[in-house]
Amino acid sequence: MATTTSSGTNSLKDWSAAQYLKFEDERTLPARDLLSRVPLASPKRIVDLGCGPANSTAVIQSRYPDAQLVGIDSSPDMIRKAKTTLPHLDFSVQDLTSYTPESAVDLFYSNAVFQWLKREERFEIVKRLMATQPSGGVFALQVPDNLAEPSHVLMRQTASSGPWAAKLASVGRDTFQTPQEIYDQLIPLSSQVNIFHTSYYHSLENHEAIIEWVKGTGLRPFVDPLQPEEKEEFLKAYLAALQKAYPTCADGRVLLRYPRLFVVAVKK
Ligand SMILES: C[S@@+](CC[C@H](N)C(=O)[O-])C[C@H]1O[C@@H](n2cnc3c(N)ncnc32)[C@H](O)[C@@H]1O
Repeated sequence: MATTTSSGTNSLKDWSAAQYLKFEDERTLPARDLLSRVPLASPKRIVDLGCGPANSTAVIQSRYPDAQLVGIDSSPDMIRKAKTTLPHLDFSVQDLTSYTPESAVDLFYSNAVFQWLKREERFEIVKRLMATQPSGGVFALQVPDNLAEPSHVLMRQTASSGPWAAKLASVGRDTFQTPQEIYDQLIPLSSQVNIFHTSYYHSLENHEAIIEWVKGTGLRPFVDPLQPEEKEEFLKAYLAALQKAYPTCADGRVLLRYPRLFVVAVKK
């Protein structure tokens, strides 16, 4: 898979909490699976890095109701939504690339965020934050591993084959580090690094629903730079390609395979 240039989150329009939450149940499933692998009985201080609309924060809160739990995210819209969802918690607009905790954190938790950072920044941030943790502290993260799935291959093919090709030439997401690259980066400061992989199969109503799903995340950098008519044409071409690639199921629905990569590191 080719490595593409990250456009970085700052060059994008703001995230939309409403669009993102259209598939809240499906998106929250890996948040639960990640948390279930955190080997901490009662962490005192937890930070949800890239908390979005607080769906992941709510999962953390239900496992650790007594912890001091805060959420940070670079999107003002997401933080507005998070504050209305869990008004008693502390949420703030902050960028992970410059974020430093005020006091020691037992659990850094990050669901579906690090794929948006530049490749070379990701594990520098993880290591910088882990360096502030006490021994036994945990850093847990999950990222989609779907750049080779038809949903994302066809997004890139549609981008490179239409009249918008020049405009979208440098759009894309950096490939994620391999399990061994992750292990090698984190093991010097960890007593354990657990890495695992799960493929979810989401039953969606139809092919249009695949577009609705990715509109909240991976499709944003491709359609945000387009004019309204171009965007309409792009989505039409993308839908036609999805209809060819994903067969319809016996009940008329469509199965979206969604592989995800999980990392849980325990500080030495
Ligand atoms: C796919 S959402 C994940 C939301 C939530 N954690 C969940 O489990 O559903 C990705 C979030 O990462 C945030 N994000 C992306 N880049 C970021 C950065 N550099 N610093 C902080 N948050 C960032 C986005 O604003 C967005 O809310």
